[in-house]
Amino acid sequence: MARGKYFIETFGCQMNVNDSEKVAGLLEADGLDRTDSVQGADVIFVNTCAVRERAAEKLFHAVGRYKGLKKENPALKIAVGGCVAQLQGKEIIERAPAVDVLIGTHNLQDLTRLLHEADSTGERRSALDTKADAFSIPADLVSHSSATRAYVTVVEGCNHVCSFCVVPRTRGKEVCRSPESIVAEIRSLLDRGYHEVMLLGQTVNAYRFRGVDFPDLLRLVHDADERLWRLRFTTSHPQHVDEKFSRCFAELPRLAPYLHLPVQSGSNNILADMRRGYTADEYLQRLALLREHRRDLALTADVIVGYPGESEEDFDATCRVVQQAEYDGLFIFLYSPRPGTTAIRKADDVPEIEKKRRFKVLNEQQQRQQRSRNQTFVGQVEEVLIDEVQGGEAKGRTPHFRLVHFDIPPDSQIAPGTRVDVEIRGAFPNSLRGELVPSVR
Ligand code: SAM
Ligand code: F3S
Repeated sequence: MARGKYFIETFGCQMNVNDSEKVAGLLEADGLDRTDSVQGADVIFVNTCAVRERAAEKLFHAVGRYKGLKKENPALKIAVGGCVAQLQGKEIIERAPAVDVLIGTHNLQDLTRLLHEADSTGERRSALDTKADAFSIPADLVSHSSATRAYVTVVEGCNHVCSFCVVPRTRGKEVCRSPESIVAEIRSLLDRGYHEVMLLGQTVNAYRFRGVDFPDLLRLVHDADERLWRLRFTTSHPQHVDEKFSRCFAELPRLAPYLHLPVQSGSNNILADMRRGYTADEYLQRLALLREHRRDLALTADVIVGYPGESEEDFDATCRVVQQAEYDGLFIFLYSPRPGTTAIRKADDVPEIEKKRRFKVLNEQQQRQQRSRNQTFVGQVEEVLIDEVQGGEAKGRTPHFRLVHFDIPPDSQIAPGTRVDVEIRGAFPNSLRGELVPSVR
């Protein structure tokens, strides 16, 4: 293939973002340069998400937009990866003839070879084997997209069997990376100037590698190198929250005081049907345990509204649990039936309009709570690690993962990755506004 440019479009979760970073590294090692404009691209990689039907359909819309570019550039190759490629490989081949290469969630390492083969033979190529080694791409090849926060995938796949979720089908059974390779990757990221690392897995706190469990891994990573300012991880499952896990938030000072812990529902009937493995009370008890160890722990969660059979009482129970949990943020999803899940056998019996109403009610409740919670930070000075600087404005995150916007002076040295102090002056439901405290560290 002639040397040229690549363009990546990513849908979905942080794990997909991290996979796209690996793809970028592979394509760069193959001699291609990144472009942010699809017009000039010679390779387009679409990284897909299958979690909800609407997310999955985005692939076909994207390919529809890109296929016309082949007229101007006949050498253009379109590759599709991620969960939709894994789940609907055959359908993509039939519905989207413009797609040249299909690459499964465990097969990224085959991408450049398949692109070359598609180029030289003019035939379409695919690799969709979830048993292949998902961790075979060398860590130093990954082309990280953020200058501030580096993603490090430590667990691939998921062994849970949530009735609504397609992930175990698209990403396969849990496979954990060795602690040695994780620590080595983090050291190399610190050498490259990173100070914040986020460990990733669909159920990251289920991590276990030859007797090393997730709290052990957190300690190993935390103690490995002083240059690590902030350690984060996502996504956690409530079933793996216990005393040992919770203690980490008290005992590891550079472990950021933030946890995303999806609850999904507040109704015990729905939770049992979802096969989440806890009741609403057990979930709330785990939050209490976590807060016992770290009083100021910031918590966010995912909730699904309109799950099959969800009654008005079930929904009220969810609203109550969300109120009691006092979340700092909430991601609310309308239930979407997914192929191959057990829930798809049930009638999707909550009408769309009712799902949207429940979304609105819960969202308004949560936004009110976030606004008043955020108001309590006004007047405090927060340590902010900068994510983005644009014009005279910067934004970044506090240790609790709160988003803060503030102005910077025109001659400022502040860049992504810099740590500054900001005095909070204003509060909104989803962000804070502050003023730079002039004492750059
Ligand atoms: N592994 C995580 C966990 O333990 O929950 C997240 C998996 S999923 C990629 C992210 C979120 O999407 C879930 O927490 C759930 O709230 C939502 N989700 C998953 N399947 C869904 C479906 N079929 N319909 C609506 N939302 C869904
Ligand atoms: Fe999905 Fe449940 Fe695993 S939401 S990713 S099956 S923990």
